[in-house]
Amino acid sequence: MSCFTRNIIVTGGAGFIGSHAVRLFVNKYPEYRIINVDKLTYAGNLANLKDLENASNYIFVRADICDFNLMNELMTEYNVDGIIHLAAESHVDRSIKDPFTFARTNVLGTLSLLQAAKNTWRGDWENKLFYHVSTDEVYGSLKLDGGLFTETTRYLPHSPYSASKASSDHFVRAYHDTYGMPTLVTNCSNNYGPYQFPEKLIPLFINNIRHEKPLPVYGKGENVRDWLYVEDHVRAIDLIFHQGRVGETYNIGGFNEWRNIDLVRLLVSTVDRILGLKPGTHEYLITHVSDRSGHDLRYAIDSTKLKQELGWEPSLQFVEGLDKTVHWYLTNQEWINRITSGSYRAYYEEMYGNL
Ligand code: NAD
Ligand code: TYD
Repeated sequence: MSCFTRNIIVTGGAGFIGSHAVRLFVNKYPEYRIINVDKLTYAGNLANLKDLENASNYIFVRADICDFNLMNELMTEYNVDGIIHLAAESHVDRSIKDPFTFARTNVLGTLSLLQAAKNTWRGDWENKLFYHVSTDEVYGSLKLDGGLFTETTRYLPHSPYSASKASSDHFVRAYHDTYGMPTLVTNCSNNYGPYQFPEKLIPLFINNIRHEKPLPVYGKGENVRDWLYVEDHVRAIDLIFHQGRVGETYNIGGFNEWRNIDLVRLLVSTVDRILGLKPGTHEYLITHVSDRSGHDLRYAIDSTKLKQELGWEPSLQFVEGLDKTVHWYLTNQEWINRITSGSYRAYYEEMYGNL
């Protein structure tokens, strides 16, 4: 008999947000057993969880969520009663080049997990939960003066990435509505913080400044994103996992909208200041390049429901969070050097040419 009160699979736990979620759950709930199921794609990195290697309530299983038989076996072997599903292909630019991989992992992988949970739980839903982590990008794009995304905004995805995430959200709700599975869906805004793969804007640009390489701003840099510190996101996941109303959707965001070009200027001056240089020294690296196809103009999350129902609020202001983030990347150069050697170089060249 296991001495754990809960057995929870976290998928994608070796990725950016997943590693923060695993760390929070393993450390905060020693009475839970956390099973991290991750395929270790280019984005998965066990170095993100080095501090947990010897934790007695943590298990890592290298597996593809699309492997339905294996998902069934893991559910039974570990007597799983909760799933926090983060595994996904997550980068819009890659989805434009290779949409099939996104449909496979994000849609079929989610379906495979749902069906494995249904097979294993067999209608005994007591103390069971399938928690699906999704994105605000499923709602599409807002006008610059066009309000915020709420939980009832209709889905209108534009990129292959957001289309695949939208589809997975629909499947999760279908399992709730059709079979009665206890599910929760959360849609969060852009995350930033330590351990983010340097294909996304903030870590990519910090790394490029470090190497005095151009900062490729798509188009005029007028697109707006709503940024949330990753630890605030996983605090919300913890709260919603334990106290959210089953079957519901919650938006997660910090009312923190930034135009890309303004964010990039703030990022440059933050890096410069921390390096002991005059803020703005590296602004000459800012380079406008061709726009992303189908580039969503603006994302902005209304997280009033989460605040009103569960009292969640972001803990960090953006300037403070960005400062922490820049500090982390500049003091963990070995982590980023490892990632940016090897296949990353081919990716960079394919994406940005000789820039
Ligand atoms: P990430 O790309 O950093 O990590 C994804 C993880 O999933 C990696 O560890 C990878 O190895 C794993 N994975 C990929 N395919 C897999 C498969 N077939 N089987 C098992 N594991 C697989 O992603 P992230 O930024 O941490 O995002 C995590 C989740 O949060 C995603 O579902 C994403 O859609 C969602 N989300 C991300 C953001 C953001 O700003 N990054 C915002 C809102 C929601
Ligand atoms: P990204 O971090 O890829 O997140 P998402 O596309 O999911 O919002 O990009 C954030 C914003 O930064 C987005 O508007 C695209 C823009 N961007 C650039 O201008 N240049 C880049 O090299 C990257 C990766 C993104």
